[in-house]
Amino acid sequence: MPKLSKSSKAWLNEHVNDPYVHRTQKDGYRARAAYKLLEINEKDKIIQAGTVLADLGSAPGSWSQVAAKLVGARGKVFALDILPMQPIDGVDFIQGDFRDNEVLAQFEQLLGGRALDLVICDMAPNMAGNAVIDQTRSYYLCELALAFAADHLKTGGTFLVKVFQGAGFQAFQAAMREQFATVQTRKPDASRNRSSELYLLGRNKR
Ligand SMILES: C[S@@+](CC[C@H](N)C(=O)[O-])C[C@H]1O[C@@H](n2cnc3c(N)ncnc32)[C@H](O)[C@@H]1O
Repeated sequence: MPKLSKSSKAWLNEHVNDPYVHRTQKDGYRARAAYKLLEINEKDKIIQAGTVLADLGSAPGSWSQVAAKLVGARGKVFALDILPMQPIDGVDFIQGDFRDNEVLAQFEQLLGGRALDLVICDMAPNMAGNAVIDQTRSYYLCELALAFAADHLKTGGTFLVKVFQGAGFQAFQAAMREQFATVQTRKPDASRNRSSELYLLGRNKR
């Protein structure tokens, strides 16, 4: 058996002992990220029966699985990702970059003139391994997701977005405050402590 590096051993150890990884398999979710959304929703009730929402950066699909169950037959889930995603009942999936005009046009056609109640965004850019570049890319994506939310949410709508603490955080939070009456931070237990990831929840779109 090949020798594992210290960091691989640490990761494997954490993964094997992670209660969320065990629950993920038992509950049939595609990723442990499901529990981050479930936890936020438990507290904030952003997804309810009848909610119409878009899931940006949806693959492999655990947030869409959670959302589809919660919105039920009266609601609707639109999911977008550059990567392919296995079908989920009740989810309309578009494969492509949400920044592409063609992808946006496809999405707007499916939306059929409706406004969204909610946009959830768990996107992460391809990491270059350079902290400055990765942080800049990440906030660039967040800014574009915020613009997407501003364009497609109804007045009073909600936006949940993953961000990384560090450079760019304050400026992005301020940009969120321009669009939403309240902006709160959320760090669900399922989000690993050592990760700088955090969720911003904007409510009551102006
Ligand atoms: C952390 S994963 C999302 C996990 C998902 N929430 C789940 O529960 O299964 C981030 C996703 O963002 C997608 N992504 C990154 N940039 C994107 C873009 N410009 N347009 C669409 N999807 C993008 C990636 O392909 C990746 O699948």
